[in-house]
Amino acid sequence: MAGKITFTMIKPSAFESGFTGKILAKIEDGGYRIIAMKKVRLSKELAGHFYEMHTGKPFFEDLTTFMSSGSIVAAILEKENAVEDFRQFIGATDPAKAEDNTIRKLYGKSLSENAIHGSDSDESAERESGFFFSFIERT
Ligand code: GTP
Ligand code: MG
Repeated sequence: MAGKITFTMIKPSAFESGFTGKILAKIEDGGYRIIAMKKVRLSKELAGHFYEMHTGKPFFEDLTTFMSSGSIVAAILEKENAVEDFRQFIGATDPAKAEDNTIRKLYGKSLSENAIHGSDSDESAERESGFFFSFIERT
């Protein structure tokens, strides 16, 4: 059965551009309930742990440099079929290929600065939520 939670991060470029409020409003209007949220800045090392599945790929260095370049907003979202629906909601990884009215189409600047993250599976949603939030912060 598909899970009810997914994990998201508003990435440094979108935060710095002042899009956080608009993005969160769109998420809530889309039927997602925010069940945990915080603003933090990742170190490059922690960004590397978060994206460890991409270790060794050509874009890994740029990805971890970018994700540690400024503040992010991390959140756990609740909705039926959360992971799959939210991936559709944010749009394709490359904003230029994202569908109209998706968050990446509206607020993404490039393949690297694509505004927002969304978990790619229920297992990733659990791992990523646990990376940022303890049990007590999720209730
Ligand atoms: P996330 O939600 O951030 O995990 O994006 P994703 O699941 O749509 O893509 P993926 O996990 O495959 O890649 C993680 C991030 O690395 C993406 O959001 C992109 O910013 C970046 N990325 C992925 N593929 C490429 C690539 O081929 N070139 C470059 N420069 N960056 C890439
Ligand atoms: Mg991914």
